[in-house]
Amino acid sequence: MSDMPTVLWLIETAERALSAASVPNPRGDATELAAHVLGVEVARLDPGAEIQEEQAELHKELVAKRADRVPLGYLTGRMHLGGIEVAVAPGVFVPRVHSELVLAHGAQALRAVTTPLVVDLCTGSGAIALAMAHTRPDARVHAVELDPSALEWARFNAARRAEAGDTPIQLHAGDATDPELLAELDGQVDLIMANPPFVPDGVQLLPEYGKFHPERAIFSGSDGLDVIRGVVPVAGRLLRGGGTLVIEHGHFHQETVPELLQSSGQFMEIADYCDQDRRPLYATARRAR
Ligand SMILES: C[S@@+](CC[C@H](N)C(=O)[O-])C[C@H]1O[C@@H](n2cnc3c(N)ncnc32)[C@H](O)[C@@H]1O
Repeated sequence: MSDMPTVLWLIETAERALSAASVPNPRGDATELAAHVLGVEVARLDPGAEIQEEQAELHKELVAKRADRVPLGYLTGRMHLGGIEVAVAPGVFVPRVHSELVLAHGAQALRAVTTPLVVDLCTGSGAIALAMAHTRPDARVHAVELDPSALEWARFNAARRAEAGDTPIQLHAGDATDPELLAELDGQVDLIMANPPFVPDGVQLLPEYGKFHPERAIFSGSDGLDVIRGVVPVAGRLLRGGGTLVIEHGHFHQETVPELLQSSGQFMEIADYCDQDRRPLYATARRAR
């Protein structure tokens, strides 16, 4: 019998190391890293397969970095959202699985709309915009990002998705709070999605976010609402009557974001929704007619 370690051994050893470092999803991360090292999708991992010494060594190195709380996406260089893979690296936000709910809500809002006009504000890697373009090939999708480094990744991902056959999206370097932003689309947009930075300055976060992510992707003023406060009037201006806004926020913004939408006087049917763990995650509203 061979004494080469197996994939299962690799995963279980890494799981113990990641558990000891209090990494939130040790088994899942150990498995993702194993798939990355072996160059296969997670679903194709064979637990009984033997692994080479160099592969075990590389896995160990990556697990040590993950134990230091480097985000998983920065180690594998990729993240999945809405059925697509996007490339990520230090300098751009790693899309969160929570955004699947924002996407699903956005897709639902477009069910009865043909050739919808969609805007993703604060697009980062482009994940939300590109996932929507993938789901709705008939959509005209615009995406806006302020940070040049993030915008580079959005460009890279947009080119890759277009090569894969998705409808190309239009990327814009810009400030999502700019009163003149995308003025040519005023009153025409069917759906605006946004995952802006929303953490109050100075709040202590898990190192994945507080230490390794770009500050601009995470923090947004003393109450975390600086960007959201600027996005509300921009969304009100861009949306057509009856158009939908879906905006992520901090779990502590469950009341303040709906209040901001209400007090703008531009929105109706304002609601707030929770994530899978029942923590407030995003607000939705429709542009008053
Ligand atoms: C939480 S990340 C979300 C990225 C992406 N939408 C996602 O879900 O993966 C917020 C993004 O907003 C960008 N950003 C921050 N302030 C902005 C502003 N005023 N205008 C446009 N983008 C902004 C950051 O650079 C970052 O890429």
